[in-house]
Amino acid sequence: MYSIAAKQAKGKFAQDNIFAANNKAVALADKLGNDKVINATVGSILDEDGNLVVLDVVQEEYKKLTPRQYSSYAPIQGYAEYLDDCIDQCFGESRPAGYIRACSTPGGTGVLHHAVHNYSEIGDEILITDWHWGAYDSVIKDNNRKIRTFSLINKEGHFDLDDFRIQLNDLVSKQKNTVILLNGIANNPTGYCMTVAEWQAAVDAIRAAVENTDKNVILVPDVAYLDYSGEKKECRKFFKVFGNLPKNILVIVAYTLSKGFTLYGQRMGAMIGITSDEGVAKEFVDINQYSSRATWSNCNSAPQQAMIAICRDPAKIEKLDEERKFYFEMIQQRANIFMKEADELGIKYVPYISGFFITIPMEGAQAVCDKLQEDNIFMVPLKKGIRLAVCSVSKKKMQGLAGKLKAAMDEVGVRQ
Ligand SMILES: Cc1ncc(COP(=O)(O)O)c(C=O)c1O
Repeated sequence: MYSIAAKQAKGKFAQDNIFAANNKAVALADKLGNDKVINATVGSILDEDGNLVVLDVVQEEYKKLTPRQYSSYAPIQGYAEYLDDCIDQCFGESRPAGYIRACSTPGGTGVLHHAVHNYSEIGDEILITDWHWGAYDSVIKDNNRKIRTFSLINKEGHFDLDDFRIQLNDLVSKQKNTVILLNGIANNPTGYCMTVAEWQAAVDAIRAAVENTDKNVILVPDVAYLDYSGEKKECRKFFKVFGNLPKNILVIVAYTLSKGFTLYGQRMGAMIGITSDEGVAKEFVDINQYSSRATWSNCNSAPQQAMIAICRDPAKIEKLDEERKFYFEMIQQRANIFMKEADELGIKYVPYISGFFITIPMEGAQAVCDKLQEDNIFMVPLKKGIRLAVCSVSKKKMQGLAGKLKAAMDEVGVRQ
């Protein structure tokens, strides 16, 4: 094949097995009817009838937007009120101590891009967990960085602090900056949630790694599923551990409106920097705003204005919280149905606490998923297991799903 791509771009392609499986499932549902197909690939909340959920309070504010509000260029950094609202919505009562600054981004993905692009050097290794969202690989590789993984969960089913420490210390010894992308709550694809004590232990390990050195660590807690990770106040407590850190540790929270406001396609989020150093805070805004200008320029005005309208009215915030609580509980109920049946059948799954996905670890995930498709069931094969989207499968369809999975595993001879 004649290639015209530049050296660093040659051979790249976006192979997205999630969208591939979803497309197949949607086409089949169109042909046979929704009730004949189980589509457990979608990473968005679907209601019990299979319709995409868009929170009512969000819909209402969207409809009220004026042309000026949705069509104007937003400031590159984002509207000031929007950025304040992101900080409030993200931290709630658990605002960490320090200088806190925010820059608008197109979703959480934009945060990951800028964090990697601006805080590591070409050729550096970026530390991520073994169980991670596939887009992490693309962001890291497309920026000409390399992937280093540590195991998220140890044999006892807890955060693997030992491996985290080993990989972290090794990278700190080799690189000036170490960027860590840590989707530690309602993890995609497992649903694992680090406890406050586990976050504290991870931060303590980072402190120890850079103490008395000229090295820096940039920790990026990816909180994409924050609003469905637990009770509102309780699930935000861990943010406190990011306060009062030495100046060579910068925390950048990857905040997004994709899930919490059900605005997936509107591409809106914010990078929220927490630092004890005023200069680092200023630099955070300067360099990230510059990169925004050089990549996507300004972000979408409409979701920023809708969020401002919601967050400036306590009654609307109350409504938002109620709606989120309802869907959080619905997802938990679906997950509980699967886990109960899986337990009865002896199917192992990675410890699930909350979030959109459950992972069933195995070798040969592709063969099992192919087998399930013969029965019009669609799940996502990963390298080390199968991802089941509990956010999108109704309780009715969830009943008996573990049994069907077990049958498919037995038929293709897969053991865990
Ligand atoms: C782990 C994780 N991080 C971040 C995101 C953010 O996505 P977006 O860029 O759509 O906000 C997602 C979305 O699927 C995700 O699964």
